[in-house]
Amino acid sequence: MTDPIASDPETPAPASDRRPYLVGLDLDGRRVVVIGAGTVVQRRLPLLVASGARVRVIAPEATPAVEAMATEGRIELELREYRGGDLEGGWYALACTGEPEINAAVVAEAEERGIFCVRADSAREGSAVTPASVDYDGLTVGVLASGEHRRSAAVRSSILTALRSGVIDSAEPPGPGVALVGGGPGDPDLITVRGRRLLGLADVVVVDRLAPGALLEELPNRVEVIDASKIPYGRAMAQEAINDTLIEHARRGRFVVRLKGGDPMVFGRGYEELLACAAAGIPVTVVPGITSSIGVPAIAGIPVTHRGVTHEFVVVSGHLPPGHPESLVNWPAIAQLSGTIVLMMAVERLGAFADVLIANGRDVGTPAAIIQDGTTDGQIVLRAPLGDIAARAKEAGIRPPAVVVIGAVVDLDPTAASGRAESEPVESDVAAESAN
Ligand SMILES: C[S@@+](CC[C@H](N)C(=O)[O-])C[C@H]1O[C@@H](n2cnc3c(N)ncnc32)[C@H](O)[C@@H]1O
Repeated sequence: MTDPIASDPETPAPASDRRPYLVGLDLDGRRVVVIGAGTVVQRRLPLLVASGARVRVIAPEATPAVEAMATEGRIELELREYRGGDLEGGWYALACTGEPEINAAVVAEAEERGIFCVRADSAREGSAVTPASVDYDGLTVGVLASGEHRRSAAVRSSILTALRSGVIDSAEPPGPGVALVGGGPGDPDLITVRGRRLLGLADVVVVDRLAPGALLEELPNRVEVIDASKIPYGRAMAQEAINDTLIEHARRGRFVVRLKGGDPMVFGRGYEELLACAAAGIPVTVVPGITSSIGVPAIAGIPVTHRGVTHEFVVVSGHLPPGHPESLVNWPAIAQLSGTIVLMMAVERLGAFADVLIANGRDVGTPAAIIQDGTTDGQIVLRAPLGDIAARAKEAGIRPPAVVVIGAVVDLDPTAASGRAESEPVESDVAAESAN
């Protein structure tokens, strides 16, 4: 099948005095007829389908992606040539074949029926043009540039970048409430776009010791920053005091960002804070972050999984020693795993963790690494076999925060050819399988 224009859905029309009227169509439940099923159509279909339109595609051949959408029941596909009368019942039409005469006939039929029609090979000869558009945070932005498609696409991209970076503020000022934001492991660039945006809208920021401090430097002076570790209560009361602080400020009508290191829900007590706020009737937004358990090893060159090497990884808290009556960790079971073990909060008791793993079957020579201050300028990476890692870390003066990685992934050599087993599925195989 010939596709008129692979990269630009509508050829730039010469600048003219035609000024299309930008409008939002409510296509929910309404018939849209698309003639053609090449790559232009493939790119248009997701938004049409997302709008709720009942999309009928007619073309003698279709790309595999268009066919897949039909198989999934998201569109109707008729594999045949266009015939006069095909626009029957349509509210909107797209003429996207590689044959100018067919596209012209589709536009003519649309004209006769009084429905708007986009013409892909010659925008100015259609009665509608598709704006370069983007959905962001509940907004839909559309750009038309007198048929200059590259220009509208470029402006659309600039708007998106500006929205993402906060240069254009898209958000309604958030109402009172709390956002639990994961700040990532330390490098301020590793917070999510949403996290950074909400931080920029905060009235109050309650910050943990391990949250990236550099993010606070960007805050305007009006923002009250509260260091959670300095909230004046006894040690045992600390979490309750933090919860009370969040609730109290939100009740005073403020938007509070609770900025945490890594991900709030990975050994971050995020859910305790969420429950406390929910019990007090305070709305809570959760913004996940890059957890140090995965991000720190990755940046140090250690993947927690690798095809053909490990099919599992487990993240374990070391805040209690093995055998402690309150410990919920099944150390013998973890020792029996063949995959990667990531230990957090484990610097102090690293010797005890290595011993319990070895005593329960993990090989004493298993590669291990400890990474201190990961993703920051002060990052230190130390590798040693499991049997020696505790002594070596002590010798080197390793101190928290640090993550420990145990398993074959530690010794992967990025310069060596991958040791993949051919029989293992790649992600797309798995996706295809689960789609079947
Ligand atoms: C209370 S837990 C919080 C984990 C956090 N919620 C996360 O998802 O990364 C603190 C532990 O995270 C790990 N950690 C946090 N930041 C780190 C960093 N930059 N480098 C190495 N380990 C880090 C250390 O194991 C530290 O003891």
